[in-house]
Amino acid sequence: MKVLVVGSGGREHAIVWKLSQSPKVDKIYCAPGNAGIGTIAQLVPIGAMEFDRLADFAKSEGIDFTVIGMDDPLVGGITDKFEAEGLRVFGPRANAAIIEGSKAFSKELMKKYNIPTAAYETFDDYDKALEYIRNGDFPVVLKADGLALGKGVLICNTLEEAEEGLKTLMIDKKFGDSGNTVVIEEFLTGQEMSVLSFCDGKTIVPMVSAQDHKRAYDGDKGLNTGGMGTFSPSRVYTPELAEECMRTIYQPTVDALNAEGRTFKGIIFFGLMLTDKGMKVIEYNARFGDPETQVVLPRLKNDLMEIFEACVDGTLDKINVEWYDNGAACVVLASGGYPEGYVKGYEITGLEDAKKAENIIVFHAGTALKDGRFVTNGGRVLGVTGIGKDLDEAIKTAYEGVKLIDFKDKHYRKDIGIK
Ligand code: AMP
Ligand code: GLY
Repeated sequence: MKVLVVGSGGREHAIVWKLSQSPKVDKIYCAPGNAGIGTIAQLVPIGAMEFDRLADFAKSEGIDFTVIGMDDPLVGGITDKFEAEGLRVFGPRANAAIIEGSKAFSKELMKKYNIPTAAYETFDDYDKALEYIRNGDFPVVLKADGLALGKGVLICNTLEEAEEGLKTLMIDKKFGDSGNTVVIEEFLTGQEMSVLSFCDGKTIVPMVSAQDHKRAYDGDKGLNTGGMGTFSPSRVYTPELAEECMRTIYQPTVDALNAEGRTFKGIIFFGLMLTDKGMKVIEYNARFGDPETQVVLPRLKNDLMEIFEACVDGTLDKINVEWYDNGAACVVLASGGYPEGYVKGYEITGLEDAKKAENIIVFHAGTALKDGRFVTNGGRVLGVTGIGKDLDEAIKTAYEGVKLIDFKDKHYRKDIGIK
């Protein structure tokens, strides 16, 4: 098969890496991809939002199957476009990807179908929202309705902060039209974890759990980022909790979407929090997580291509999805200054040594090739995944990999997996 993967981050590198091991896959293309992906796939210089050009390319190149990695094209309807052109594609249609595209929608869905989540109200009127927070408790959580690169969530400890936050979202429109509608939510406390799942529209198969570190600095200090590191499995997600989630969250979500005429085929990412009242959904995403994928897919025994096809064909119940009983940790190497301003174009050294090392996989996120050498080309540059017989060994291995690689102003957290 000829397969096209759409996206350009560490997540897409992990998907391409896993697909490249499939006996069913002859050739992989990635649009637009990055320099690391370019070592195992043919890069196609078409942006992820250029649906017409992507579909034309898939047809002219005879692509058999396309995998959408990113949220924006899914929410924007790339799957609908590919299906209309008669192309096979993995990822939910726009009417199902809305579980990520609109927080107001996903909260309403959870409320209607009794799926446990934080109490909330939705507002599109600034004055009414202001009145609500003035009469409410603190901390309070404000969320821009639409996609905001994972940054549209504000946790406000005081009324003053909440008033400022509401202005940022609804008046200053820091996240554009995403802030036209705002979800105001009860603040929950507890351990967070991520569970990704394969879904064929009826059957849902959860993957092994993972945990993400979103803040820029050790000890969860500094600004929120796209993710500075992950590990799998989560230390708190027991088989009993998995069973509870299947019963109260995973299957009910799939059933709710079907009941609404929004059949979901693809990846549902559950952002979960273990509160003193049980597991609650913090958010849904309609795609693999980044950098969760970099620790989850290396633990998958199966041929990923077979699972993707089963999701599209509605035959996921025929597949026995199996996982290695081990651990994985991914440490993100970022450009100094990220998530704020940073410099691009620094040479990256040590990648060859890391490639030779056992149990270390380097996934590229923001890299480019310049005169035949890899250089930094983004905030998150690389994700170094270590595999071990258990989590502790995986973390140690990941940090051994980190020591091999260098570039100017390299920044990474030293406490991934240690929480
Ligand atoms: P989200 O984009 O919805 O995942 O939110 C980003 C982060 O904000 C989450 O990973 C949580 O750490 C935090 N968060 C979101 N909602 C809540 C909530 N209701 N209570 C406490 N923390 C929250
Ligand atoms: N790591 C969080 C996300 O992919 O949304």
